[in-house]
Amino acid sequence: MTLPSPLPRDPLTAPLLDAQGRTITYLRLSVTDRCNFRCTYCSPASWGGKKDLLTPGEFERIVSVFARLGIRRVRLTGGEPLIRPDIVEVAQRIAAVPGVERVAITTNASHLERLAVPLREAGVTQLNLSLDTLSEATFRRISKQGDLATILRGIDASVAAGYASLKLNVVVMRGVNDLEVPALIAHAHARGIVPRFIELMPFGQGTPVPTAELVEQIQASGLPLVPEDARHDVTSGPASYWRAPGGLVGFISPLTQNFCGGCNRVRVASNGDLRSCLGGRAQAPLHALIRGGATDTDLALAIRHALGEKPEGHRFTEPGAGTSLLSMMGIGG
Ligand code: 5AD
Ligand code: SF4
Repeated sequence: MTLPSPLPRDPLTAPLLDAQGRTITYLRLSVTDRCNFRCTYCSPASWGGKKDLLTPGEFERIVSVFARLGIRRVRLTGGEPLIRPDIVEVAQRIAAVPGVERVAITTNASHLERLAVPLREAGVTQLNLSLDTLSEATFRRISKQGDLATILRGIDASVAAGYASLKLNVVVMRGVNDLEVPALIAHAHARGIVPRFIELMPFGQGTPVPTAELVEQIQASGLPLVPEDARHDVTSGPASYWRAPGGLVGFISPLTQNFCGGCNRVRVASNGDLRSCLGGRAQAPLHALIRGGATDTDLALAIRHALGEKPEGHRFTEPGAGTSLLSMMGIGG
């Protein structure tokens, strides 16, 4: 009798596991490192922007390899993804890749008045909208450029366009926008949007407010918040949700509730480098490999190798972390 010999598994079809045995199903793809704003908390390595960004065809190629490895959700990030003139084509080509079930975009909403409908028609199902304040003066203080009225119109345009899911991301900074939290909840809920409050990570200036303190502050303002039992299914990311009378309220707490254990994501930076973790170093130069003529199998092997070295978690809370972290601009959060 011959024993079955273990066949080498096809690098293009076996599920994508990282070094901790976590299955990777979610790809964050930074499509540009440039932004039309200059938010105080989002400190870039360079504002100039890379010249050798990937083309729509190269994004489609990379995503199709990831989709064969089991990636089902793709989020486009930046910088600000919507400043790419070809963003609708990028979104459309990615949404059409077999296996990709959901395409989301994180945006500052400044271009949504024009693009909310075309992106929806291109197959984008979800938008995460960044809005930290409803005050024009505070907006200028945080973002330095742009104007709040345009952002608010962009948000309303995305509500009208009928996305399956809209979320409002608020980075909370002590003494800057922390007292506006109840007003931001009301603004979001009035439009059927789920607001999410994010603990400030040490990429730039500002003082974070721990989630536990913020929850107490919201309750003290007279808004009852009840923890939502079905906290988050694995695909919904690191937020924890509470229920208010007008809808859900989310909290993302990178500092006080490390969520790395449930991590199912991989990132590709705007220069085409795969990064296995937000706090990690570049580990697979996918763009360079493509330009060098790599086959899909070569790409799959490079991706697997990099994820084999994905660390257990980020190290934001260690002393000195802020100075050694990669900038948010290139990796898109
Ligand atoms: N801390 C937390 N979130 C951040 N973002 C950018 N910089 C930081 C930071 N230092 C997130 C915000 C922003 C999105 C583009 O990235 O949610 O809206
Ligand atoms: Fe641009 Fe978003 Fe960074 Fe602000 S946080 S500078 S809008 S990428």
